[in-house]
Amino acid sequence: MRFSVLLVAAVAEAAVIARECEAPGPDEDGRYTISAPGIKAQFIPYGASLTNLFVKDKNGKDIDVVLGYDDVAYYPKDPGHPVYNAIPGRYANRIGKGQYTIDGVTYKTEKNDGENTLHSGTNNWSFRTFNVTAFSSDSITFSILDASNSSQGMLGRVESSITYSVTNSTWHIKMTAKSLDQKTPLLLTQHTYFNLDAYRNPATPKIWDHTLHLPYSPRYLEADQGALPTGKILTAAPDSINDFASSPSLLLGHARNLTGFGGNCGADGACEGYNGYWLIDGAPKDAVVVRLASAFSGVKAELRTDQPGVVLYSCNWMDGSAVLKGTQGIKGVNEKVVRSSCIAIEAQEWPDGVNHPEWNRKQVYGPGETYNWESSWTFGLL
Ligand SMILES: *[C@@H]1O[C@H](CO)[C@@H](O)[C@H](O)[C@H]1NC(C)=O
Ligand SMILES: *[C@@H]1O[C@H](CO)[C@@H](O)[C@H](O)[C@H]1NC(C)=O
Ligand SMILES: *[C@@H]1O[C@H](CO)[C@@H](O)[C@H](O)[C@H]1NC(C)=O
Ligand SMILES: *[C@@H]1O[C@H](CO)[C@@H](O)[C@H](O)[C@H]1NC(C)=O
Ligand SMILES: *[C@@H]1O[C@H](CO)[C@@H](O)[C@H](O)[C@H]1NC(C)=O
Repeated sequence: MRFSVLLVAAVAEAAVIARECEAPGPDEDGRYTISAPGIKAQFIPYGASLTNLFVKDKNGKDIDVVLGYDDVAYYPKDPGHPVYNAIPGRYANRIGKGQYTIDGVTYKTEKNDGENTLHSGTNNWSFRTFNVTAFSSDSITFSILDASNSSQGMLGRVESSITYSVTNSTWHIKMTAKSLDQKTPLLLTQHTYFNLDAYRNPATPKIWDHTLHLPYSPRYLEADQGALPTGKILTAAPDSINDFASSPSLLLGHARNLTGFGGNCGADGACEGYNGYWLIDGAPKDAVVVRLASAFSGVKAELRTDQPGVVLYSCNWMDGSAVLKGTQGIKGVNEKVVRSSCIAIEAQEWPDGVNHPEWNRKQVYGPGETYNWESSWTFGLL
């Protein structure tokens, strides 16, 4: 009896060793690394999160342009949990008033963000440990099987996979999801936070000196004080606060001295900058729809996506309590993630479209249908 237990243990150990030899696993910190010329990306199964993204700056140095923590074990413990470069799901962003209706049946979701549901409430995907189902030197696939009602009011099992790969200075992201049993809302995104200076600009840790261009996005969704779309679609006049369409040289902070900037993202005037949704209108296939750049590092980041718009969130709620990674910042000068020092750019479907039939969005999926999402970020120099 004891002999066979030992034998089983030895066979299991041999299998582990064999697996380690044929397919590399994570490094000793728990990060999976993929790379290609000009780019190196690292991931963890928690939230299927990107922890580090290295690209070349104007001096030819590798700089880490996304937020994260050095300590992989800290991600699940962080009380602030800003969804650092994770996959929120099964329905990212807000569900208004904590409810939606499918085929005449109203489902109640958890109100975890004032009157609304944010990122599907408790047990949302950004707090799950995904399975790694494929891994090579330039690609990794994470998967999740989400049980029915694991997030309150989201019924039916959902199976999803997220593939990240890199080629020549480009980070590719591809997601698919299927609802196996019944109709359910599906809306995914990659919640990437950037600071293209890696917090090493001695002049400022803030994001306002980055330029941002959304050539196909003069239109955006009006939002209420809780960042929930009201249903109205507005058009930004050139040089107005929400204009990032009219010129490629608009700074992210171009409107920071205009009246209204201080309360532009709601919270009864407490949220400065941006936390809203811009529509992408009439972009040709594979067009660059967002260009973020910084003169300090010389880095530009260009988004291509099959999604109809992007959320821009300029990190108003970062309160300086989170410590930067060792790959970022300047000792004694910039060491913390301070207010308005980063920008999350999240390609996704229209937020709360599940409650706006007049928008005519496809956000409910049933058995036999596949949800698809695809984007890429290409890095280069100005
Ligand atoms: C997501 O789920 C976790 C774990 O259940 C929970 O602690 C957290 O508050 C949830 N996040 C949101 C935004 O509701
Ligand atoms: C990972 O795979 C195991 C074994 O198939 C399964 O029990 C578990 O639920 C999966 N985890 C996720 C997050 O789907
Ligand atoms: C879903 O879970 C909630 C508790 O989180 C429970 O109150 C509700 O009855 C469940 N719904 C179904 C259909 O199981
Ligand atoms: C890599 O990208 C650069 C810049 O976009 C381009 O000039 C070069 O031809 C690409 N190389 C390959 C192998 O695709
Ligand atoms: C806004 O005001 C600050 C401080 O007076 C100034 O440094 C900055 O250049 C101004 N920004 C713009 C875009 O006008």
